[in-house]
Amino acid sequence: MLLELQDLCVTYRTGKKDLKAVDHVSFGIERGDTLGIIGESGSGKSTLVMAMLRQLDPRFAKISGSIHFKGQELTALSNDEFKRLLWKQIAIVFQKSMNSLSPVHRIGSQFEDIYRAHQPHASKSEIHSRALELFALVNLPERIYHLYPHELSGGMMQRLSIVLSLMFHPDLLIMDEATTALDVVTQGQILREIMKLEQGMNLTRIMITHDLSVVTSSCRKIMVLYAGCMMEFGSVEQVIKNHLHPYTEGLIRSFPSLYGEKQALRGISGTLPDLTNPPVGCVFAPRCPYATAQCREQRPVMTEYAPGHFAACHRYSREEVKQHA
Ligand SMILES: Nc1ncnc2c1ncn2[C@@H]1O[C@H](COP(=O)(O)OP(=O)(O)OP(=O)(O)O)[C@@H](O)[C@H]1O
Ligand SMILES: [Mg+2]
Repeated sequence: MLLELQDLCVTYRTGKKDLKAVDHVSFGIERGDTLGIIGESGSGKSTLVMAMLRQLDPRFAKISGSIHFKGQELTALSNDEFKRLLWKQIAIVFQKSMNSLSPVHRIGSQFEDIYRAHQPHASKSEIHSRALELFALVNLPERIYHLYPHELSGGMMQRLSIVLSLMFHPDLLIMDEATTALDVVTQGQILREIMKLEQGMNLTRIMITHDLSVVTSSCRKIMVLYAGCMMEFGSVEQVIKNHLHPYTEGLIRSFPSLYGEKQALRGISGTLPDLTNPPVGCVFAPRCPYATAQCREQRPVMTEYAPGHFAACHRYSREEVKQHA
């Protein structure tokens, strides 16, 4: 396994009450895997990756559990050790990544600064040729090296932030809604470019998105997150075509185009539970059409129903459903 999370929990301290944003999340991905994380707004997707990358202020976010990456326990590393690993081994691109670039300096000089932060003795020409090499990978014209960030289009900006994240050949690339703001044509182009890069660079990717079609077209595995809890995990084929969890079913029904036929949009009624006071049983029970007393009283555990296909749902441990599944 390249990355393995075991019982990761994140609790935000919000005033008097604690808010459990990520609740015992455990999963593993192999090198070369692509994992899409889906779930409605507020389900804890960003919190999960921010906790993994130490982007949360420990005064306001309490993190527990284990994060194993390339044979080392990340939670045991000092901040300095972790900083050395970030960007060189794990890189992240956010939707608003480009906001972190300075508007008053040319792209090239910022590229030099970022490069020298990790390779202090690199020469100007070495950095310039590395930049052009990276630009070519995502179809960025060389001239942008001399431009200011505001002179780039949205698509160019996102390509540039992807390129910056790949500067030091990371093993793991995490994208949090990194292509969401783009038009579908540009988004499709960028996704195809990334998939080509992955093959060449032996890159592993975790992709967070609201858009199921992005996951089905660019990822091999899917994790479904709801109210901080994992609902389902498996290959795209398993989770989309043979999904087990009623929440996954609801999410898929909200994207009718996946079936290639017109049908009324059937979202999931109700809203996320109050995470400062989550339900005792299954977190989805208050909205689930199949919920029983057992679901309201007892938290279901992730169970493997087919090789590599996991779900946390009491419905499948009840004998009568198992026979139809
Ligand atoms: N800094 C914070 N302090 C307190 N609560 C927070 C903080 N950041 C996020 N939360 C809460 O944690 C929960 C999970 O938020 P998170 O941003 O991880 O969701 P998400 O799945 O990424 O949503 P979206 O799809 O809208 O980006 C939400 O209830 C949110 O309000
Ligand atoms: Mg988010």
